[in-house]
Amino acid sequence: MEEKTALEIARSRLKDKRFQHTVNVRDMAVTLAERYGADPHKAAIAALLHDAAKEMSREELLQIIRDNAIMSENAENRPQPVWHGICAAILAKTQWGVEDEEILSAIRCHTTGKRDMSLLDKILYLADMTSAERTYPEAAYLRKVEMEDLDRALGEALQMSLEWLRESGKPIDPVTREACEEYRRFSGGKTDT
Ligand SMILES: [Fe+2]
Ligand SMILES: [Fe+2]
Repeated sequence: MEEKTALEIARSRLKDKRFQHTVNVRDMAVTLAERYGADPHKAAIAALLHDAAKEMSREELLQIIRDNAIMSENAENRPQPVWHGICAAILAKTQWGVEDEEILSAIRCHTTGKRDMSLLDKILYLADMTSAERTYPEAAYLRKVEMEDLDRALGEALQMSLEWLRESGKPIDPVTREACEEYRRFSGGKTDT
């Protein structure tokens, strides 16, 4: 897929603010890909499509999940905020012509992380948390760490996500918990999950 096509898909499906977020995630993902030797083109495509299902209704997402049981990774029984990544990956594969499994995986797990993340998975997860419009203090901190040590930044980012979910009383996806367990050894010695 050409980047122009992915950009058009994002533009046609997202309101201005989320489209700008998407473009910023693309920029950060490309920067990280260049820094760590991943394919910048794949990073750009994954980033441009990562939130392309985020403005669909609950019913529409549920329909995609039910129509694609094998690809949907038990999504129906997982917290709803997780659905849009899984659905974007399904749409990318079935409707937008993306065949590259690395790109599909990065899109699929961008909200939760997972065990054994690929370089591209890590890049998209972090780019989504550190895109230019993110203004919380943790984003500035992660921006610095991610340019020095990707795994450490990932460990800390996963930990932060888990803490935010916990503090706001939101349901925690078991896959996020597993990812946190796996990567916390990189996160500067913090052990609380
Ligand atoms: Fe997302
Ligand atoms: Fe996002």
